Amino acid sequence: MLILIKNGTLITEDNTLSADLLIENEKIIQIEEKIESRENVKVIDAEGLFVLPGGVDVHVHLDLPMFGTVSSDDHYTGTKAAAFGGTTTVIDFVSQDSDDLIKNVRMLKEKAAGKAVVDYSFHANITHLTEQVEKDIPLLVKEGITSLKVFTAYNNRLRLQDGEIFKVMRIARDNGILTMLHAENGDLIEIMVKEALAAQHLSVEWHAKTRPSWGAVESVMRASAISAMADAPLYIVHMNAGGEVDMLEYAQTHGLKVFGETCPQYLFFTEDDLAKPDGAKWICSPPMRTSQDQLRLWQGLEKGIVQTIATDHCPFFFDGSRPIMYEGQPVAIPGKELGNGDFTKIPNGLPGVGDRMPILWTEMVASGKFTANQFVKLTSASPAKLFGMYPQKGTLQVGSDADLVLWDPTKKLEYGVAFSHQRTDYNLYEGWNLTGFPLSVFSRGELIVDNGNWMAKAGRGKFISRKPFDPACLG
Ligand code: URP
Ligand code: ZN
Ligand code: ZN
Repeated sequence: MLILIKNGTLITEDNTLSADLLIENEKIIQIEEKIESRENVKVIDAEGLFVLPGGVDVHVHLDLPMFGTVSSDDHYTGTKAAAFGGTTTVIDFVSQDSDDLIKNVRMLKEKAAGKAVVDYSFHANITHLTEQVEKDIPLLVKEGITSLKVFTAYNNRLRLQDGEIFKVMRIARDNGILTMLHAENGDLIEIMVKEALAAQHLSVEWHAKTRPSWGAVESVMRASAISAMADAPLYIVHMNAGGEVDMLEYAQTHGLKVFGETCPQYLFFTEDDLAKPDGAKWICSPPMRTSQDQLRLWQGLEKGIVQTIATDHCPFFFDGSRPIMYEGQPVAIPGKELGNGDFTKIPNGLPGVGDRMPILWTEMVASGKFTANQFVKLTSASPAKLFGMYPQKGTLQVGSDADLVLWDPTKKLEYGVAFSHQRTDYNLYEGWNLTGFPLSVFSRGELIVDNGNWMAKAGRGKFISRKPFDPACLG
């Protein structure tokens, strides 16, 4: 089946073009100023609309067990929410449930396969280093996985020691794998949490007070230094502190291949949100910081120090004892209420996979602060390049997957749970006035959101086998 999208304005990271675009069998096959319609071609008029490459969100946690519950979007509901928000590729994480990394990967592949509705891939968490794990890391590449994540926090659970991170980075480097870092100081957090509990400081704000930004800053510097000594590339996830941007810039000016990602929550909210009566909604790790930190993060994006905006989508219900209706069925999943009266028991994480593109469009493009091309670069092209999926994903080129969004830049709406489709009972951006919204979404040529209507079936999303990391991928 051929689909011809006519009269749209095509936006890529480096081009804005009035052109028609032809799709055949999952791929873009032609882009020309004018393409004539022929028999058996479905024509879609995109007059007045932007045609964007589908968003690429390289940081989501679907169906992730945590604190006796599970993140409330699974590979169906989370990818459906992604689609409604204009994101057509996500990367989730494989937990190191056993030291057989390949078994862990295959189990998650099986779990996602019958559910995902947009394309997806995985990063591998390395949270316990053994000889078998050292041997298994190179085998990830054959599984299509070319990135792994290490942690300098969560002592006795997820954290590796510096020497172990050094070892992992060298193995990763030798095999074309990009090392990602969760940057916080696990030792100090542990002491501060113990002291807070002993002093009966149990309220939500103490989550941020026991994880100060200095821990994130020193961890970025420490890991950058380790990456220099390992001669390995590094990608800092969920950057939240201005000092982290300073450290990243320092590393980059010293010639290191160190990259950074931030997330909308760190650009729009602060630790003050935790003090609200419903502050648990904003609990995630690392926590929100200050308005000064926000300014430096924005500057990092403008100056190209920070290359991507992902979400760290890891939703929980605010009150998991009260069902919501999801696809006509009541659903309730234990959530933030598990930590009523003790901040250490509140599941860490928040929703965002569907919010990212519409919120950022309004705040970046409609506001006139960034161009539509910069928006595409930060939310789609650069993530696809860094994680070995470009030009299959992240652009509009002949031969690319026909993952695209018909974006209405004039659409105005009051955003919130009614629009976001994330399977939880709240939205961080409830009541925000948006300008610009995805109207229709294609994934590999299939219209999965048609004028705001859901068209797709569970399991149509494909696992994307990613290419090895290319140090020159961003030019
Ligand atoms: O609070 C968060 N971010 N939960 C997800 C896990 C992580 O470290 O990214
Ligand atoms: Zn993390
Ligand atoms: Zn995360």
